Amino acid sequence: MRKISATVIIKNAKQLVTLNNPQLIGPLGGEAMSELGIIKNGAIAFSDTRIAAVGTTRKIQNQIQISRQTRIIDARGQLVTPGLVDCHSHPVFAGSRANEFEMRLQGKSYMEIAQAGGGIKSTVKAVRKASPKKLFDNGYKVLDEMLGWGVTTVEGKSGYGLTLKDEIKMLKVLNKLNAQHKIDVIPTFLGAHDIPEEYKKKPDKYVGIICDEMIPAVAAGKLAKFCDVFCEKGVFTPKQTRAILQTAQAFGMKLKLHADQFYSTGGTELGTEFRATSVDHLDLISDEGIHLLRKTAVIPVLIPGCVFWLQMEEPAPARKMIDYGLPVAIGTDLNPGSSPIHSLPMAMSLACVELKMTPAETWCATTINSAHAVDCGDKIGSLSPGKKADVVIWDTDDYREIPYWFGKNLVQRVFKDGYEV
Ligand code: NIG
Ligand code: FE
Repeated sequence: MRKISATVIIKNAKQLVTLNNPQLIGPLGGEAMSELGIIKNGAIAFSDTRIAAVGTTRKIQNQIQISRQTRIIDARGQLVTPGLVDCHSHPVFAGSRANEFEMRLQGKSYMEIAQAGGGIKSTVKAVRKASPKKLFDNGYKVLDEMLGWGVTTVEGKSGYGLTLKDEIKMLKVLNKLNAQHKIDVIPTFLGAHDIPEEYKKKPDKYVGIICDEMIPAVAAGKLAKFCDVFCEKGVFTPKQTRAILQTAQAFGMKLKLHADQFYSTGGTELGTEFRATSVDHLDLISDEGIHLLRKTAVIPVLIPGCVFWLQMEEPAPARKMIDYGLPVAIGTDLNPGSSPIHSLPMAMSLACVELKMTPAETWCATTINSAHAVDCGDKIGSLSPGKKADVVIWDTDDYREIPYWFGKNLVQRVFKDGYEV
């Protein structure tokens, strides 16, 4: 047998969490979310930027051609996993909303603050004023923090510009971050994040601008893979959402939705009708919505950070969804208002405590399922030969320790595209 030549081999891992199950292709739903494909005393070999082989240390040592160029890493007593995928975030913004945090502690709700001109609108003011360089520098620091927590791919949204010029400015920053930062950034156009102040009295006019000016420009510049809409009472109605989704789809964009977060407005139903890649938040999803998700391949993305930070009375029914067989994913939703949480491992802890998910399920939800939530399940999210060599070594020997030690960063080494970063 010809041996595979390797650039890197990580061996002797106490647990190699592969999420690799040849019988189960695609996102993992229901009970399969607990099947992490753990190899004890595991090893993984890279061939340049790709994973070449995965197995027990003994097997890999037999399969791999070790040359003088091969870097050998001993992960004795440690946990080795795929790089985490944050499938929902707003990493480019300016300013801070610490004042609103204080207002909320004094009894005002997130939606009350938003309706009084704060919330998303206050970040919009700051982003419109900020230069592209300032936004890039801010975003770069955010990505550094995320990478430090073991995240190797991030979905990042625009949505704090809300004019053609400022949305394009944000998307260009997201694309530049993708090019210059080690993390892969997948840009999403979220011009429909809020009705800007100047269109408060004529929201349909703003929807027209999104459809007639923004989406064509974003598509022409190939600036975003996804188009997202905040479909919510007081923000975009299902009818307006439908118009935006139709246009984005016609321009070849894939779809996402902020759906059923504060009210059950039928966002999930719309997302499934349009075969969106994911529908996100879902705290107030209806039973019909859960049923429709089961019938389609739309991924439910849950945001435990928001549930915690906004103290949602009715958090997304994660247990009901998983017990019904759905492939749940988790994102941080990092943003300066509803979820100022950079750390995906902390979101995993919150998913356990707030949404009653098991530690194993949170691993699945932040690797293979979140990879599918950004339509990259064939390239990342599991330790499978041929996929990107995005790998994390953790300073612990059991996957449950990661959500358990809330707020403690156990990341030891991160490999992105086969190289240590
Ligand atoms: O995902 N729900 C809408 N958008 C964000 C909040 C953004 C903000 O408050 O700045 C979210 O929660
Ligand atoms: Fe969000």
